[in-house]
Amino acid sequence: MPARVRTAVIPAAGLGTRFLPATKAQPKEMLAVLDKPAIQYVVEEAAAAGIDDVLLVTSRGKHAIEDHFDRMPELEAVLERKGKTEALDQVVALAELVKVHSVRQAEARGLGHAVSMAADHVGDAPFAVLLPDDLMVDDSTLLRHMLAAHAEHGGSVVALAEVPRQNISAYGCPRVEEVDGSLVRITEIVEKPAPDDAPSSLAVTGRYVLTPGVFEALARVEPGQGGEIQLTDALELLSETEPVFGWVFSEGRYDVGTPLDHLRASIALALDRPDLGPELGAFLADLVRRRDLR
Ligand code: G1P
Repeated sequence: MPARVRTAVIPAAGLGTRFLPATKAQPKEMLAVLDKPAIQYVVEEAAAAGIDDVLLVTSRGKHAIEDHFDRMPELEAVLERKGKTEALDQVVALAELVKVHSVRQAEARGLGHAVSMAADHVGDAPFAVLLPDDLMVDDSTLLRHMLAAHAEHGGSVVALAEVPRQNISAYGCPRVEEVDGSLVRITEIVEKPAPDDAPSSLAVTGRYVLTPGVFEALARVEPGQGGEIQLTDALELLSETEPVFGWVFSEGRYDVGTPLDHLRASIALALDRPDLGPELGAFLADLVRRRDLR
């Protein structure tokens, strides 16, 4: 039986160039989706799946992320004095949700390189990788399913979603064999193939459960797509010596690193909130009607 997965590695060193100017002086992971920074959803998702240790891979200018998950005595004192108990409970609970550590990625050498920075912290245990651009709002069952598949079958498990073939060159893309229901076995995987060369229309999305063998594979891969060390290339190597599975899912993913999906996620989440949904729904319906009349 494989060891329990306790650590989630969250690569958060990127510059956020798809979301300028909002991300010029502010980490993209801290952009609020509705009323929470994007990265908080991801940490909450990890905690809900039983993970209690988070390693952030950061870079210069990302202190706000670490501060967000830390205690903040001045703020807590003010909230206490003002009797804002609910807000106080929220900020304290957030700092106690998981243990947060960080490591710096000094140079932007790719996702694979970012993950390799976690080797010392993770040691000889399986771990999860959660990319904070991908928000999974569908009650976080995805990661739990992936962890259960890892517990049952061992090996690594990668989240996969069907995308239109013309979009596949933004993603890692596997060739797969069916195993059981949503679980498939990856027999080949390539980073950002041209649509005509893609082995399938399944895209690797931002959730991975990995065995520590991936660190050895990462140490062996040469720079790939974009001159960067690619996690996908390490998975291809890893699949030669141990099983790499995919978990195919379809619902609830937003790429909040882009303005459009960020807006979609905020709207979808707000519509589901009893305190905001009805008014926002009426506003949107009215807006759409008026625009159509023009
Ligand atoms: C990264 C991975 C890619 C994966 C994608 C998911 O690419 O390299 O394999 O499909 O995340 O979002 P990036 O989006 O960093 O270019």
